Amino acid sequence: MAKVAILGFGTVGSGVAEVLRENAAGIAHNAAEEITLKYIVDIRDFPESTYGSAHIKDFSVVEQDPEVTIVVETIGGVGVAYNFTKRALLAGKSVVTSNKELVAAHGLELLAIAKEMNVNYLFEASVGGGIPIIRPITQCLAANELDEVYGILNGTTNYILTSMVKDGAAFEDALKEAQRRGYAEQDPSADIEGKDATRKICILADLCFGKNVEPDGVFTRGIGTVTADDVEYARRLGCKIKLLGRAVRLPEGRALVYVAPHLIHKTSLLSNVDGVMNGIVVRGNAIGEAMFYGAGAGKLPTASAVTADIIDAAKHRKARKYLGWEASEPGYAVSPESVPMSWYVRTDSSLTAVGAAFPKVRLVSFPGEYPGAGPDHYAFVTEKASLAELRSRLDSLNILSLFPVLD
Ligand code: HSE
Repeated sequence: MAKVAILGFGTVGSGVAEVLRENAAGIAHNAAEEITLKYIVDIRDFPESTYGSAHIKDFSVVEQDPEVTIVVETIGGVGVAYNFTKRALLAGKSVVTSNKELVAAHGLELLAIAKEMNVNYLFEASVGGGIPIIRPITQCLAANELDEVYGILNGTTNYILTSMVKDGAAFEDALKEAQRRGYAEQDPSADIEGKDATRKICILADLCFGKNVEPDGVFTRGIGTVTADDVEYARRLGCKIKLLGRAVRLPEGRALVYVAPHLIHKTSLLSNVDGVMNGIVVRGNAIGEAMFYGAGAGKLPTASAVTADIIDAAKHRKARKYLGWEASEPGYAVSPESVPMSWYVRTDSSLTAVGAAFPKVRLVSFPGEYPGAGPDHYAFVTEKASLAELRSRLDSLNILSLFPVLD
C-alpha cells in the first residue's frame, strides 16, 4: 500500500483527493497496490471537508512519517512549495506536482536532488493541464531529435479570446467566468501577461532540447494588446489570433524561446483549439509532427494528470524514472529579436509612410466598415526578418500592434 500526502487543498489538490477517492479501485489496479490518502496539509480550516482527520497544518508531520512515500505538491508558487518539495525529496519521498512555476524556475535543482535521493519528481500536470505531454515527449518520442515545440499553453487566455471572438463577451466578463471555472491562476495577471505560458514553454524546451531555459529572461507578450481590430484584420488575412508559446532548436546549439499572440492561418489545426482547450505540436526528425489536444486547465483534468503521476511514482519506487536536463550556458535561449520570422503589423501611419518603409507588402484596411476601425488603420504582414532587422523601418511608423505570424 502506498500512502500519499497532499500539500495545498485548493482547486487542484481537492481534485486529486476526489479522483483518488472516486477512482480508488481502478487506481489500485493500475498501480498494482492500494493508494491511500493519509494527510492533507493546508494552513486553512475546511469545516465542510469529508476528509476528517486527514487534515493537518504541519508539514513536518509528513516529512517525518516514513509511511508516506509520495507527496503531492499543489500549493503553487515558489516560496513554501519550493521549501516543502526540497524537504520531501531529501526525506526520501517522491514528489508529484502541477506547479509549473516551481518546475520552470527550480526543476533543474529539484530533479538533481531527486536523482541523488533515488526518488521521483514528476510534473505531468505542469503543462497542458490534463493533456499527456511530458510523458509523450520523454518516453513515446524519446527516439527523436526534437526540433520544435509550440502551442496554446494557457487555458484562461484561450477561453477569454474565444469568448470575445465567438460570443462577443467583454474581456472582464470572460476573465471572471474563467476564474469561476477554476482555470485562472490566483493572480490572473500571470495568465493574461503570458507568464504562465512562458513557464510552460520553458519546461517543454528543457525536456525537448535537454538544456535549462530560465523563464525570467524569456521574451513574453500577453493578450492585453490584442484588440477587436486585430481580430478583424486577422480574419481578413485568413487567420485567427492565438497566444502561443514556441521553442525552436537553432543551429550552433541555441534555442529560440518566446511567448506572444500569433496570427495562425485558419487551415492550421491549432486555429480551431478553442475555449479552455490547449493544443501542443511537437516536431521531431522521425515522427514529423505530432499534436496533443485536450483540457488545458480545470480541477479534474489537472487532477487526472497529477494522479497518473502518483500511480507512476508508486510503480517506480524501486527503479527511479530518468527525467532531467542539463544547465545551459549564457546566451543559449534567444528571442525573436534575432531570428527571422514574419510579423503582422497594424499602424495608423500614412500610406506614404507605410509604402516608404515596406514597399512590397499587401495592405489590408477596412475604413468605415467595422466599428472602432478608423479610416487610417492599415495592417500588413512583413517578409521574414528578425525584429532587429526590421527595427529601423518599424520605428518610422506608429505601430499599434505587432505579432508574429506562424508559418
Ligand atoms: N491558469 C492556467 C491556465 C492553469 O489557464 O492554463 C493551468 O496550468
